[in-house]
Amino acid sequence: MKVKVINGPNLNMLGIREPEVYGKATYKDLVEFIEQASKAFSMECDIFQSNHEGDIVTEIQNCLGVYDGIVINPAAYTHTSVAILDALKAVSLPTVEVHISDVDSREEFRKFSYVSLYAEKVIKGKGFEGYKEALGYLADKFGS
Ligand code: DQA
Repeated sequence: MKVKVINGPNLNMLGIREPEVYGKATYKDLVEFIEQASKAFSMECDIFQSNHEGDIVTEIQNCLGVYDGIVINPAAYTHTSVAILDALKAVSLPTVEVHISDVDSREEFRKFSYVSLYAEKVIKGKGFEGYKEALGYLADKFGS
């Protein structure tokens, strides 16, 4: 099976941004972690990161007919983006939403997620391991 992992704004700043919240590991470390995890599940996996909402919408649209599932950390767009929700609904692929931090135990505005209105599974507060859990969920679903 083939999975697209999409990371939203400021995740490229991992290791620098708020290490007390997101840890000291860098975005490059995250990419390596996801690549290793996908190999362990014998999946094909492509990873994309953008700071731009429209680019994320286009990337989701381009998944149609190419990928079997999506793992997405929409970052701040989680809490604001109807456009990303609509793109996910449009392509209608199995989607797992991941957050490195526990968004429910942070500011009030982080508790609502547009993407959760579509995602079939949401993983919060498990650090990088959340991405592995998300890939494992899709692998189990498709018996990769
Ligand atoms: C995040 C949580 C969001 O609230 C925040 O805006 C992020 C990262 C997380 O992975 O914990 O940028 O999605």
